[in-house]
Amino acid sequence: MTIRIVEVGPRDGLQNEAATVPTDVKVAFVDALSDTGVPEIEVSSFVSPKWVPQLADAEEVFRRIRRSAAVVYSALVPNAHGLERALAAGAEKAAVFTAASETFNRRNVNASIAESIERFRPVAEGARSAGLPLRGYVSTAFHCPYEGPIGPEAVRAVALRLLELGVDELSIGDTIGKASPPEVRRLLDVLLRDVDVGRVALHLHDTYGMAVANAIAAWEGYGVTTFDASAGGLGGCPYAKGATGNVATEDLVFVLRASGGDVAVDERAVARAALDVTRAIGRRPASRLAGVFSEANGAPRP
Ligand code: HMG
Ligand code: MG
Repeated sequence: MTIRIVEVGPRDGLQNEAATVPTDVKVAFVDALSDTGVPEIEVSSFVSPKWVPQLADAEEVFRRIRRSAAVVYSALVPNAHGLERALAAGAEKAAVFTAASETFNRRNVNASIAESIERFRPVAEGARSAGLPLRGYVSTAFHCPYEGPIGPEAVRAVALRLLELGVDELSIGDTIGKASPPEVRRLLDVLLRDVDVGRVALHLHDTYGMAVANAIAAWEGYGVTTFDASAGGLGGCPYAKGATGNVATEDLVFVLRASGGDVAVDERAVARAALDVTRAIGRRPASRLAGVFSEANGAPRP
């Protein structure tokens, strides 16, 4: 079974940057990622620019990217207004987002979990009538920065409500990157009793360095084949302080393939995109492979 990588670097990766990233840099990053073999790229968010000023140029980014027929270009939307903006910009898939922790959800979207799901009702209807696939994120599925550990039953309850609403895919988020393989197994043991594994993606941040181990546990043990990842390990959530980026796409691809997984992504091309975008924003990629390929280490450009 082919492993699907959803590249979230342009959205999750860049949303957390304090200094404004020029639109040109974002467009070049998405264009480079379009040539890596990833089947889906989360390009930006149609959220309130007051809440996430970094992604206020979502329309312009969508307008200027070069689209590959082999890639689905998606966006985060928090409400009906977000969906209208996403449709007008030509997003090809939308993602709503809520959480398994009330406190995190309140901080992130200023609503309870139930209120946020009510807001998604018109989003789901609008996406359905526009023929747009819909993803539903469940953040803080393992640990919450405010409430601590979160039980699998809380995640299952939110996941089932999102499925009732009509999401095609669930993305289960380890928002602060603190889950361990046993915790991933505990959650999947509960969740997959009711949910088809083909509809489950894992969104693993890598704060404590466990994301690759978690992905392997989910893939080998449960047959999860969709993973979110961010080139160069960029990212974090502005409303989850201290959390670092997603698992680096290039590292995840390398490890999955080395473990026998069928994954049609060119990790060298991803590392190149990561090196270019991080150079443009004055950072270094947080990935093993970008280090291996880095010219700074005397390696030829990947
Ligand atoms: P609010 O302030 O409670 O609601 O925000 P509001 O309806 O009063 O809106 C406030 C202002 O925003 C108004 O403008 C609205 O018009 C405007 P004003 O009248 O003050 O000029 N507004 C919008 N503008 C543009 N596009 C929109 C939109 N909606 C309202 N769609 C709201 C509620 C949900 C809007 C806000 O809290 C928000 O935008 N939050 C987004 C937070 C966010 O993006 N967080 C990061 C992404 S989630 C994440 O990273 C986790 C994830 O990666 C998974 C994981 O790691 O676990 C997905
Ligand atoms: Mg995230």
